[in-house]
Amino acid sequence: MQSINTVTALAREGTIAFVIVNSPPVNALSRLVREGLIAAMDLVERDDHVNATILVCDGRTFIAGADISEFGQVVHGPTFKDVQNSMDSARKPIIAAIHGTALGGGLEVAMCAHYRIAESSARLGLPEVALGLVPGGGGTQRLPRLIGVERALDMVTSGRPIDAHKAFEYGLIDKIAPEGQLRNAAIRLARKVLADGAPIRRTRDNDEKLARDRLQPIFARFRQKANFGKFEAPYDAVRCIEAATDLPFDKGIEFERAIFETRKASPQSAAQRYAFFAERKAAKIPDVPNDTPSVPISHIGIIGAGTMGCGIAMCFANAGFPITIVERAPDILERGLSAIKGNYNQSVMRGRLSPEQASNRSRLITGSILPTDLSSCDLIIEAVFERMDIKQDVFATLDRVAKPDAILATNTSYLDVNTLAQSTTRPDRVLGMHFFSPANIMKLLEIVRGDKTAKTVLATAMRLAKQIGKVGVVVGVGPGFVGNRMLFQRTREAQEMILEGATPWEIDRVLKDFGFPMGPFQMSDLAGLDLGWVREESKGATLRDRLNEIGRHGQKSGAGYYDYVGGRKGIPSAVTEQIIRELMALKGATPRKLSDQEILQRSIYPMINEAANILLEGKALRASDIDVVWLNGYGWPAYRGGPTYYADRIGLSAIVGQIRNYGWAVSPLLEKLGEDGKCFADLSA
Ligand code: COA
Repeated sequence: MQSINTVTALAREGTIAFVIVNSPPVNALSRLVREGLIAAMDLVERDDHVNATILVCDGRTFIAGADISEFGQVVHGPTFKDVQNSMDSARKPIIAAIHGTALGGGLEVAMCAHYRIAESSARLGLPEVALGLVPGGGGTQRLPRLIGVERALDMVTSGRPIDAHKAFEYGLIDKIAPEGQLRNAAIRLARKVLADGAPIRRTRDNDEKLARDRLQPIFARFRQKANFGKFEAPYDAVRCIEAATDLPFDKGIEFERAIFETRKASPQSAAQRYAFFAERKAAKIPDVPNDTPSVPISHIGIIGAGTMGCGIAMCFANAGFPITIVERAPDILERGLSAIKGNYNQSVMRGRLSPEQASNRSRLITGSILPTDLSSCDLIIEAVFERMDIKQDVFATLDRVAKPDAILATNTSYLDVNTLAQSTTRPDRVLGMHFFSPANIMKLLEIVRGDKTAKTVLATAMRLAKQIGKVGVVVGVGPGFVGNRMLFQRTREAQEMILEGATPWEIDRVLKDFGFPMGPFQMSDLAGLDLGWVREESKGATLRDRLNEIGRHGQKSGAGYYDYVGGRKGIPSAVTEQIIRELMALKGATPRKLSDQEILQRSIYPMINEAANILLEGKALRASDIDVVWLNGYGWPAYRGGPTYYADRIGLSAIVGQIRNYGWAVSPLLEKLGEDGKCFADLSA
């Protein structure tokens, strides 16, 4: 093997050369990788004993993209375009041999190769829109040439990778290699290409599919049904693919590059790139390094077959874990299990799962009414009614029936995890695992670290979160932890605003315009107004009390803040407006018009203020963790980075000023940062 530089090497197998990239962790296209690739391609071209090249990567993946950390900085050394030019000018066939994830720039490199082979577990995609970008290395010009316009539009605007089988079906790769046999299979493919005298097949020259698609009204159809909300990048991606059909290749590349540069400089992309790194930072716990041993988990127990318990069971079943779910009464258990089956059946009907996948997942979930059936579980999560005494009883029982080293987790959304831990003889093995509804869909998992939670237990929960596709964020014990604690502030202020004259529909509209998928009142109708509401204790003092008292519990009862007529779309309700008027009359308040700006500030600023308190109390490790919570659990628009990122853009002293105007208590941390002209990001720096 001949080393080219620290991250690239050349090897030979007869007349076939291997260009090998080895740049951990994900072989991103850093300056060194670009330099190495160009030098290696040059050597191969000049070597008369080589007649084909296989481009392959060591480590866990093929090139996973451009080096995102270079964005926003001056780029040194050869550009990505130089790499592509060196591949495009090659006179010997290049075969990209793909394993892991060929994403973004990785797939763009692979598309410059003349042939592609991928391991069956490989995934290929252009996820740039998730970073507020469009592909900048010819992805929007080469992909439609390989797989046609319609499929390219779908892949590029969704950013969703496809698996090797689909890639083969689409014509993105030429062959699937059996697992673990990529290099040998690539050699066989190279030899076949040589033996057949197959031509150098440059993607850029292949206009066949474009010519076919050019005559179709594909773009008009696509734009009509597209719904990207306020995300700008997908719309730009469509323009780039359109350019591929309208312009000669080199002009198309220029067009794409110009759009890429504009996007890279856009506030949306800056925010989305921040969110990407924030998510990765959240996985790091300063006093629990990555090599902290974790507890092996093979069997999961769940107590409670309600909506949350069943959703959590599905999360684990989807990742292949066997689960035992325990309920008190057989009929409630049965209802839960059939809800799970129903959910899987729906996924089959929507084409998201094959019938076989659905039945395999269902089969992993066993029901029982005996807590003793949890005795072999390594982790037991309780998801019972949100009351301390009930949960304490459950924990005491679990402590008796569970293996001595089993981890006990609570899915509480606001109760004191330390108090719960005290109901057991193993507080070091207790923690919170707060899933968000619907648990099988929402990506956030707040991992609540109790005073006594052992580091191995915390490390185990973080590892599990990743295994089941969740974004785990460590939070401290305190009412509502991070997410709900901030949500509570927004809800409180929303209730205030409606008693001053803003309608629920106005508030919802302003927050939807800001980028949330729904506003607070729509969210409440969806979750159920009676969540945590107790009829016997209701004093009819708030709008929510009064609506609940007359049976308006939200969507499920056909009425809540909104009216629902045979669907999920709420209609502003005269009943709700009447109750608001009554409550205002009781207060002696005269309605006034609140501007959209006031509604927005009074919704978001209390959250920012609370975020500062959370940081001050050490209940979140870093400001960016708070953003990760809101991005993944509450629908904060990714293009606005998260509450603290957003606050930093506005300027903290301006926010402090407004908070004073509204008469709220300013968080001492926010006040200090504002006075010092600093921002949340400075805290981690
Ligand atoms: N550029 C720079 N760094 C990158 C990177 C990229 N394109 N992709 C991943 N990384 C880094 C991460 O920041 C992380 O660094 P850290 O360990 O210092 O925190 C490390 O690589 C591992 O990433 P992680 O996401 O934790 O690993 P994973 O195995 O779960 O996922 C990927 C791997 C490649 C699927 C995922 O990282 C990913 O989606 N990357 C982005 C790919 C992309 O968008 N490419 C197009 C760029 S234009």
